[in-house]
Amino acid sequence: MLTTEEVSRFISPPPTTVEGFEKFIQWAQQERAAGNYACYAVVPNGLDTAIGIFQVRTLEPGFGMAEWGFALGSQFWGTNLFAEGARLILGFTFDTIGVRRLEARAAIANARGNGALRKIGAVQEGVLRRSFLRNGVHHDQMLWSILAEDWTEQLSRQGTVTH
Ligand SMILES: CC(C)(COP(=O)(O)OP(=O)(O)OC[C@H]1O[C@@H](n2cnc3c(N)ncnc32)[C@H](O)[C@@H]1OP(=O)(O)O)[C@@H](O)C(=O)NCCC(=O)NCCS
Repeated sequence: MLTTEEVSRFISPPPTTVEGFEKFIQWAQQERAAGNYACYAVVPNGLDTAIGIFQVRTLEPGFGMAEWGFALGSQFWGTNLFAEGARLILGFTFDTIGVRRLEARAAIANARGNGALRKIGAVQEGVLRRSFLRNGVHHDQMLWSILAEDWTEQLSRQGTVTH
């Protein structure tokens, strides 16, 4: 699901073989054990197959500052699965790991990716010019961030208390 043209156009190319994906899982487990990274597979209610992933990686020792990324199979776009998953990941990132600042980068041409970040309350910070190489094209990327205090404010607006 992640290797289709519409999903992988603006992201680092996902592994295209089962063996390649197994290596990715092994790498993900090592990085998680080392305290650098976490990857969640998205399995919708009623299915037993993963249809996407959310990833979070540290940008500095101790996970004060981190970056996240996500991809879902295109049949599941526009189903609210993204917003639901994003909420769980933000809870994990800020409340469990204790991240202070969470960054995301999205190619400017990736309208859905930018729309998705905007709608879950990420703040647009600036353009990283020619920062992402994909299929021979250097794309400009938008830098987005969510701060721990933004997350706390979102929760209090929604009347949700997690700690
Ligand atoms: C990014 C991704 C996980 C988001 O999931 P999704 O289900 O498509 O996201 P949603 O539909 O919930 O939200 C996207 C928002 O962008 C908006 N949007 C879609 N196309 C748009 C366009 N051309 N211009 C502006 N906004 C657009 C949608 O209307 C939606 O907002 P709304 O729900 O308020 O209407 C999914 O699109 C994906 O896997 N993309 C491929 C991988 C990828 O690009 N990852 C992100 C890298 S930053």
